[in-house]
Amino acid sequence: MKAQLLDALRDACGDAAVLADAASIEPYVTDWRGTFVGRASAVVRPASTEQVSEVVRICSDARIPIVPQGGNTGLAAGATPLQLRDAIIVSLSRMRRIVSVDADAYAVTVEAGCVLADVQQAARRAERLFPLSLAAEGSAEIGGLVSTNAGGTAVLRYGTMRSLVLGLEAVLPDGRIVDGLRALYKDNAGYDWKQLFIGAEGTLGIVTRAVLRLFPMPRERVTALIGIDLSETALRVFSHLQTMLGETLSACELFPDRALALRVAYEPGLRRPMAEHAWYLLVEATSSLSTLRTAAEEAFVALDDAGLAGAIVIAENSAQARALWEWRETITETEKRTGRSVKHDVSVPISAIPEFIARATERIERDHPGVTVLAFGHFGDGNIHFNVLVPGATTAVVDAISAAVYEMIADFRGSITAEHGIGRYRRNELLAHRSIFEMDLMRTVKRALDPGNVMNPGAVLEE
Ligand code: FAD
Ligand code: MLT
Ligand code: ZN
Repeated sequence: MKAQLLDALRDACGDAAVLADAASIEPYVTDWRGTFVGRASAVVRPASTEQVSEVVRICSDARIPIVPQGGNTGLAAGATPLQLRDAIIVSLSRMRRIVSVDADAYAVTVEAGCVLADVQQAARRAERLFPLSLAAEGSAEIGGLVSTNAGGTAVLRYGTMRSLVLGLEAVLPDGRIVDGLRALYKDNAGYDWKQLFIGAEGTLGIVTRAVLRLFPMPRERVTALIGIDLSETALRVFSHLQTMLGETLSACELFPDRALALRVAYEPGLRRPMAEHAWYLLVEATSSLSTLRTAAEEAFVALDDAGLAGAIVIAENSAQARALWEWRETITETEKRTGRSVKHDVSVPISAIPEFIARATERIERDHPGVTVLAFGHFGDGNIHFNVLVPGATTAVVDAISAAVYEMIADFRGSITAEHGIGRYRRNELLAHRSIFEMDLMRTVKRALDPGNVMNPGAVLEE
C-alpha cells in the first residue's frame, strides 16, 4: 500500500487510529472461530461518523477495498478480508457512545460500535428492554448486528434486528453520509431505504449510528428446562405452550443431550441440570402481569399430564435461570473447543423441524462414519444450527456433507442461512439456492449503491 494513503488515513483519524503492523492487524483478519484468516494492509479505527466518511472517501478514490468490522463475532467470514488485495478494515469499535435513551419514546440512539450487552444495560437502567439477545452479546456490536440482521433467542416474540431498528445513519461507498436517525414507529415517506442496509453485511455502506426500539421491561419471568425423549415431541410441547402462554412465550430453544455431554466432558465435575433426556427445550415466558408464574405452572402441569415432558425444572430465581441459560449459551463455545465443525445455519417451517433433524442426521451420520451431528437452535422461529463435528475430515467430505444438508433444505423449502448470513462462507450456496432473477435484483442494488465495488467486495456477491 502506498505510504501516502496511510498518511491520508492518519491525517483523517489520527496516528493511533491506523494499525499497519502485522501483529496489530492479525486479530482483525482472523475470524472468531479461527477458521478463516485473511489479509489487510491496515486497520483504521475512526472515532466519529465524519471520520468514517473521510476514510471511505480516501479508499474509494484510490479504489481500495473496504471491509467494515464490528465485534468480529460473525460466523460467515463477512468481516474477514479473504482473497482481497490491499484491503482496509474499518473497525467501528471506538464509536461506542450511547447517544441518548428516550424512555417515553421507547427508543435508544447508539453509535455502531456499542456492544450489545451495553445497550441492553442502558435500556435496563431506564426500565426498558432491548430484547435482542445472543451468546456473543458481550462482544457483538450494533453495526454488526444490524448488518447481519441478527436473530438470537428472543426472535419468537420480538423479531430479528430488522424489526428493532427505527432509524439509521450510514456512510455510502462514496463517503456521503445519509442521516435517517428518526425515532418513528410509523413512517411511510417513500422507500424505507434503511432496510437495504439491514442484513447487507457491509456490502452497501457502513452503518454508523442507529435508533433502536425499546419495550416495557417485563416484571415477571419464568424460565424452565423441559426434558423430552423424541425431537417430534418438541413440536407438541411448543404448540401446547403457545396455546397456554401465547404472546408471553419469548424463547423456545432446542438442544440435544450431546451438547450437554460435550460441555461436561470439558468441565468435569459439572452436573447436568436434570436426569438425562435425548433432547431439551429451554423455554422462557415474560410478562408484567403478576399472574404469569401461575399461568406458566398450570401450563407445565398440563404438559406433564399429557405425557409430553420427561421432566421439567423451573428456575426459582434469576441465578438458577442464568445457570439454565448457560447450558444453551455455551454450546457454540464448546463446539469450537472440539476442533473442526461444519456450520449450517438453516431454517425450515417450524412444523418440519423434527422431520428435518431426523432425516438429515440419519443421512449424514450414515454416509459419513465418524462425524457427529450437533443440531440445536431457535426452535420457536424455525432456525436450526445443523452443525456437524468432523474430526480430521477432508475438504471433499466437508463439501459432501454441506451439499447433502442444503439439498434437504431445498426439499423442505427452507433457507441456507436464517441468521448468520452469507459472508464469504456461503457465497456459492447463495448462487445455487436463489433464482437468477433474485441474484440479478441483488446485483442491481449493489451496482446502484456501490458502482466501484469498494464496499466489502466478495461478501454476499461475487467480487
Ligand atoms: P462482525 O463479525 O464484525 O461483522 C459481521 C458482518 O457485518 C460483516 O459482514 C461486516 O463486514 C459487517 N459489519 C460489521 N459492522 C458493520 C457496520 N458498522 N456497518 C456495515 N457493516 C458492518 N448470530 C445470530 O444472529 N444469532 C445468534 O444466536 C448468534 N449466536 C452467536 C453465538 C456466538 C458464541 C458467536 C461467536 C456468534 C453468534 N452469532 C449469532 C453471530 C454473530 O454474533 C452475529 O452475526 C453478530 O451480528 C455479529 O456482530 P459483530 O459486531 O461481531 O459483527
Ligand atoms: C447460537 O445460536 O448459539 C449460534 O448462532 C449457533 C452457532 O454457533 O452455530
Ligand atoms: Zn443462533
